[in-house]
Amino acid sequence: MAGAAGLPLMRGDAIRRALELGSRPTAGSPDDEDYWGEIQRAFDCDRSMVNLNNGGCSPTPTHVLEQMIRDLRFSNELPVIHMWQTLEPRIESVRRDLAKSFGCDPEEMAIVRNASEANETIILGLELNPGDEVIVTNQNYGRMLTTWDQRVRRDGIVVKPISIKLPPPSQQYIVDQFRAAVTPRTKVIEVTHITNLSGHIMPVREIVAFARPRGIEVIVDGAHAYAHFPFTRDELDCDYYGTSLHKWLLAPIGTGFLYVRKNRQKRLWPLMAAPAGMDENIRKYEEIGTHPAANHNAISVALAFHNAIGAERKVARLRYLRDRWAKRVQRESDRVRILTPLDSPYGAGIGLVHVDGIDPGKLVGWMMEKHHIVVTPIVHPEFDGLRVTPNVYTTVAETDLFAEKLLEAARRGIG
Ligand SMILES: Cc1ncc(COP(=O)(O)O)c(C=O)c1O
Repeated sequence: MAGAAGLPLMRGDAIRRALELGSRPTAGSPDDEDYWGEIQRAFDCDRSMVNLNNGGCSPTPTHVLEQMIRDLRFSNELPVIHMWQTLEPRIESVRRDLAKSFGCDPEEMAIVRNASEANETIILGLELNPGDEVIVTNQNYGRMLTTWDQRVRRDGIVVKPISIKLPPPSQQYIVDQFRAAVTPRTKVIEVTHITNLSGHIMPVREIVAFARPRGIEVIVDGAHAYAHFPFTRDELDCDYYGTSLHKWLLAPIGTGFLYVRKNRQKRLWPLMAAPAGMDENIRKYEEIGTHPAANHNAISVALAFHNAIGAERKVARLRYLRDRWAKRVQRESDRVRILTPLDSPYGAGIGLVHVDGIDPGKLVGWMMEKHHIVVTPIVHPEFDGLRVTPNVYTTVAETDLFAEKLLEAARRGIG
């Protein structure tokens, strides 16, 4: 306990130092290692492993974790008072802060546990009749496709997947693929804001612009987008958006948000039942029974950390880290292909790298067992590779080590 008591002090100092460094005129440029070194010290990471799968789930900074643990202990002392009466009402501050960041009204922002919960609320909550058509892509997230499949089996709707080539030749090409799949029965389009597979940022605004006048609802799966690169609701102009916050916002595990435009709330059923009086109340999507208040309240601390770095500064660093490994392996090996757009506004921190002739599953195993580097295999019927997702606490030494080992694998094999 004595050791743990020292932690918040140390972290407080790291954050103060980062803020001081951050106020210098050139502070926090993508290669300002003094600045990023302070950000790295805000985390208690196990550096004996190189974690390049932050897209799966990221660690939260230590001061965020500390608030959550503090609130869990406080809740446990007298749950019905401390948790329900003192802490739970503070979810309204989280709602206010997230709504400000996303650019919507707080009455359009529900706090949920992850992107799956947010997206399934929309997918299962829309009124659809047998024969109604839904367009998805060959790169939508598996659990969302499973949810649609359940509606096919249960409600007799029709799901029409479209294929998007990788890398897509243009943003207009993507819009055209959706447009070509529309029929008079099309009621919904579901699109990932940025794909978890290759990290391509989709033309959401353009898809909404052609869908809305045709009465087609657009669901945006933003699991990997929010707090990864800057955007606002108005830039997307969407009516429904779901995201996790334990990926790019660095909030505690088990946090997410669901945005539903005010005029859509009455018609979108919640996943767990709520009273009729809540029909037009965004909180109907939070009627999940007893749950810890500590987890969702700590979102505001993570958001303050994110805002202190700044969304533009963060994505510039993420692109810098990506370019550092991706451009090097591309330059130094002709067996390697990067399937994520580089030097483009349609790519950010996620990078997908294909290595000719090496099975991605085996390569991931080799990286983990021989070099203690964690990356994700992507195996899709149309492409494969290793997905690499650093975050703000990743060091350049870590991405350099990954590049070195990937080149070694490409040159000598992993046999
Ligand atoms: C595109 C996409 N959607 C949804 C999810 C589900 O996120 P979670 O497991 O946090 O609910 C993920 C997770 O990786 C994802 O990549």
